[in-house]
Amino acid sequence: MRVNTVKDIDIRDKRVLMRVDYNVPLDRDTGAVTDDTRLRATIPTIRYLQEQGAKIILCSHLGRPDGMVVDRLRLGPIAERLSDLLGQPVKQLPDCIGARVAQAVRAVGASEIVLLENLRFHPEEEANDPEFARELASLADIYVNDAFGTAHRAHASTAGVAAYLPAVAGFLMDKEVSVMGTALERPNRPFAAVIGGAKISSKIAVLDNLMSKVEVLVIGGGMANTFLKAQGYDIGSSLVEEDQVEYAKELLHKAWEKGVKRLLPMDVVIADKIDKDANVRTVPVNDIPSGWSIVDIGPDTVEEFASQLRSCLTIIWNGPMGIFEIPAFANGSIELATVISEISGVTIVGGGETVALVTEMGLEDKFTHVSTGGGASLEFLEGKELPGVAALMKK
Ligand code: 3PG
Repeated sequence: MRVNTVKDIDIRDKRVLMRVDYNVPLDRDTGAVTDDTRLRATIPTIRYLQEQGAKIILCSHLGRPDGMVVDRLRLGPIAERLSDLLGQPVKQLPDCIGARVAQAVRAVGASEIVLLENLRFHPEEEANDPEFARELASLADIYVNDAFGTAHRAHASTAGVAAYLPAVAGFLMDKEVSVMGTALERPNRPFAAVIGGAKISSKIAVLDNLMSKVEVLVIGGGMANTFLKAQGYDIGSSLVEEDQVEYAKELLHKAWEKGVKRLLPMDVVIADKIDKDANVRTVPVNDIPSGWSIVDIGPDTVEEFASQLRSCLTIIWNGPMGIFEIPAFANGSIELATVISEISGVTIVGGGETVALVTEMGLEDKFTHVSTGGGASLEFLEGKELPGVAALMKK
């Protein structure tokens, strides 16, 4: 599905309400932005609107203040960082609706930018209250949604507001939806999904949806333990979801019936405790001593995954291969990131942890697409229609 973008509508000199997802981490002590990826990702749309002489009214949520004003969740530090990135002032307004805001917005000149205060300070935002949405809409002539990261929420600023204004996507939203949508609907084949992370239970819908689309299914991370258990391996003290063992068995069987190549770890890094000072060994999956836990995939597994993935033309990766926050357990994820980044086909990374890893390694530009959505990209991969996308004008 393609949605109309800022290029499909006359924006010249218009007042534009632009929803962004500036829900970014802040330093506990200084309050400064510690990862500005989501800010940088919206700059192409902001620049385009400026070229058109638009008056830009940015709005975002930050954290989960539950409908109350929470001082540490004010957007001041974000306005500051955005000003630095753009090299021009971004004025932070004291609220997102009301007479003072309306007055401040009237004073915004061509190509100037203001940032409204945290939308979630008002309970009406998450309740998708029509009156609140109408008030937000009254600030502008056009609504632009560039907040893919929040597109899975049916809130006033992500969905409701589209009832009152022409609603189009920014470039980030358009890229997220079109790159991932094309991969799911018309992938270059062979198509592989690499799914990792701690738990199967959070990825069941993704596994089910992708299984019917891919030729190769690679499973790693903590969730692979439950699959190994389903295959009859003794996995020692490894994290396991007992209530998902049956599901894992069924999924492996379904994949086999469909002719999907299923790849699970063949060797693993194990540790005697989940700690940076743990004793660590690498063993085949059929030789895990009791009391030890799987914490990463081993080098033979990386090699096997790599050799299968190198012949794929589309790869979607979501979820790390081990407990990568602990350096001694991060090699599998790091090596796989390097392998996938060197593949010349379409390579897509989604999910907060996987994206953090790729970003830390400085590999973002080596992938076709690094999604800015955590929950949103997961729901997209589940095949769900996201309310923030559904609300936009279709091509
Ligand atoms: C995110 O960071 O995943 C989005 O900004 C959505 O935040 P939420 O889960 O608080 O709605």
